[in-house]
Amino acid sequence: MQKENTQQMPKINYATDITDDMKEAKKDYLDRHTPHVVAPDRVQKGKPFAVTVKMGRDYVHPDVVDHHIQTLQLFNGDTLLATATYNPGATTGGMDEAKGYTQVTFQISLGRKGKLTAMSYCTKHGLWVSEEKIVEVE
Ligand SMILES: [Fe+2]
Repeated sequence: MQKENTQQMPKINYATDITDDMKEAKKDYLDRHTPHVVAPDRVQKGKPFAVTVKMGRDYVHPDVVDHHIQTLQLFNGDTLLATATYNPGATTGGMDEAKGYTQVTFQISLGRKGKLTAMSYCTKHGLWVSEEKIVEVE
């Protein structure tokens, strides 16, 4: 007997290289779900700098009531630094069937070398983890 109102653990997906021989539909699926960390290669110790977490490079994710990017999170190693939460339609003006680039910029500072990763949560397709971005501190 199946329980009602149970929440399942979301599937966790990791950033994948999109190769030329991959089918277009698979490239689209992977690219629009993969978060990316955009940050400087080198920063000064304790000095604030901007880190942007953005979704996809070439493909756009839907932003509708039952299917949208709900959260973007920024980690340094295992430590959660920041979370942004989006309601459906926030990136598209609430238009039906619309797609939108979900993106957020956090202001952080580091005391030593950073190993930044981002995690996104799609309400239909689970958790997605970016590649690691190393930020050197001088
Ligand atoms: Fe999705």
